[in-house]
Amino acid sequence: MGVCSFFPLLCLLLFFSRAGALFGYGLLCCQFISSDNIVYLEQVYFNKVLLLQYNSTLGKYTGYTRQTKEIADDLNKNHAFLTQEKKNEEMCKTHLSSMVDDFSKPAEPSVTVTSAEAVGSKHRSMLVCSVYNFYPKQIRVTWLRNGQEVTSDVTSTDELSNGKWLYQIHSYLEFTPIPGEKISCMVEHASFTQPKLYEWDPTLGSKMNRIAVGTAGLLLGLVFFGAGVTCYKKDTTGQVLVPTS
Ligand SMILES: *[C@@H]1O[C@H](CO)[C@@H](O)[C@H](O)[C@H]1NC(C)=O
Repeated sequence: MGVCSFFPLLCLLLFFSRAGALFGYGLLCCQFISSDNIVYLEQVYFNKVLLLQYNSTLGKYTGYTRQTKEIADDLNKNHAFLTQEKKNEEMCKTHLSSMVDDFSKPAEPSVTVTSAEAVGSKHRSMLVCSVYNFYPKQIRVTWLRNGQEVTSDVTSTDELSNGKWLYQIHSYLEFTPIPGEKISCMVEHASFTQPKLYEWDPTLGSKMNRIAVGTAGLLLGLVFFGAGVTCYKKDTTGQVLVPTS
């Protein structure tokens, strides 16, 4: 994370010249370099040119023009100013670290395993393991066939960012189904204490398959029902029960 969080954007001092084109502004900035390297900066710009800066790594002010160099020297002799800067630096560190801690909490993914049509492949089937909304980005998605890792005919997308600290990834396995075998998608991620297996349930199949099976079942039911009714009718009309005496 190389971001410079403007935190808080405290002072925006604007002074315009007669020409209306000149202005100055100040920035307070908490720069996150790593969890144990947070830099507090105070900068004064005029016409986009940096004139004066306090840098917490150096622990002092630096001037970049003849006049601001003098100001910097004065400020660096001012104990009250430097103490205040130390306080600001501490505040920036505590706030930013807690913010970063929140951001870096692992988010557990939701995983689905579905079948798809294998187009232009030597194999008959394709499975898709879709892993959604995880953080951090580092993840390992693999396929197991009867407990053995499959290495061939596996492709994957990159970790796709949603722009809001969450990622998704999709892994594809092309294969020729063998009855009775167990295929699972294995996900290894920081939010899990151990790798998680997501087994593919072939009976679920795709939505189209389920509709087809349902329709076939319904038709078969109708055929038997029809046959039953016909036989019943024949039975009752063809046979007259005559009581024997
Ligand atoms: C602050 O000071 C450190 C140490 O000299 C330096 O590495 C860093 O680049 C400075 N930051 C800025 C924004 O000037």
